[in-house]
Amino acid sequence: MDLIVRNARLADGDELVDLAVRAGTFAEIGPRLKLSAQTEIDAGGNLVCPPFIDPHLHLDAALTAGIPRYNISGSHPEGIQVWCEYKKAYPQFEDFKDRARRAVEWEVAQGTLYIRTHIDICDPSLTALKYMLELREEMSDIVDIQIVAFPQDGILSYPKAPELMREALMLGADLVGGIPHCEWTREDGVESVGVVYALAEEFDRMIDVHCDETDDDHSRFLEVLASQAIKRGFQNRVSAGHTTAMHSYNNAYAFKLQGLLGKAGVNIIANPFDNTVLQARFDTYPKRRGITRVKELLAAGINVSLGHDSIMDPWYPLGKGDMLAAAQLAIHVCHMSGFDEMQQMFDTITVNSAKTFGINDSYGIVPGRRADLVILDARSVLDALRLCPARLTVVKAGRVVAETQPSQSRIQYGAESKVVDYRKD
Ligand code: FE2
Repeated sequence: MDLIVRNARLADGDELVDLAVRAGTFAEIGPRLKLSAQTEIDAGGNLVCPPFIDPHLHLDAALTAGIPRYNISGSHPEGIQVWCEYKKAYPQFEDFKDRARRAVEWEVAQGTLYIRTHIDICDPSLTALKYMLELREEMSDIVDIQIVAFPQDGILSYPKAPELMREALMLGADLVGGIPHCEWTREDGVESVGVVYALAEEFDRMIDVHCDETDDDHSRFLEVLASQAIKRGFQNRVSAGHTTAMHSYNNAYAFKLQGLLGKAGVNIIANPFDNTVLQARFDTYPKRRGITRVKELLAAGINVSLGHDSIMDPWYPLGKGDMLAAAQLAIHVCHMSGFDEMQQMFDTITVNSAKTFGINDSYGIVPGRRADLVILDARSVLDALRLCPARLTVVKAGRVVAETQPSQSRIQYGAESKVVDYRKD
């Protein structure tokens, strides 16, 4: 064998197992395997899980917070203003690759091996997109990246956006994006969804649309996206990001919509970091939580995953690329703190996202599948969500791609000291 990870605690098993890897795939899994390998890693009874997946990240803006200035109000409109100022300061995205590379490294070091990034194509020279295509290749040893051709300023509201979308897809963007709620009129929004599908059909690509990211309960483009998925045979190939207007729909309409989403197999991607700070800015009190109906969608059998969305950009100044932290926040704001519900939230950054990403047949700690795994400094899924602990070792296709030494706290009792263990068995 090339690699054996010993004494691994899998999420669904009490007994510790060994994971044997050959030629980049899991070969055997079982207790105390009588095999040898070039490299052996002792997981020491810690949780070993498949890698995290971030299906919604804006790498073109990542790490620009403070350049040229911070968003003082923290609001969405000021975020757009600051982004315009950034683009004036760096018209050629000179710093793009350094920033994006760092953000990806942060995610990989914390166990995320699959990233779907939205890159703004509303730029006649497609500069950021071209840099991103290069970076995807340069970093392919440590991470799999999908690129969405994302029309930030609209498909009908920005000149020549459909042509730029087409060019981006020809250059190598993986998915077709959209933003119907930001088009100038409702009719334009509906028409823009038609353009998205036409491009997806032409290039045979999956779709991932920013959809209804507003507190306006009249924003109802998700039904258009879902009905078109059924009519055009795109079931299970369409994702909708944010869908925060669903927070404000009346319950009868939300119920009807859930049925349609189920039929269409639309994946919903909630983004708790950005939406909890950006939404409900026009509310006084009570203030809405600004996140889509994660609990109800999961209960209805809809595939829901979480995205990190921003890492230190004009819209969200914090974050370090930690998908466990996204799940922890979502547990709070979505009322998902029941015991089984917390396990479900772990799925929203692992198996559910694998379905969104389109890799569910090759993903998971199962013989014959690609040997991707994360060893966490935690004993259980619950503790992983509670502690957001160090990702001790990250393995991609049988190769160690990141390691982290856990921090250590000591308590001093007079002359004696004791190491603090935050883990709970
Ligand atoms: Fe987004």
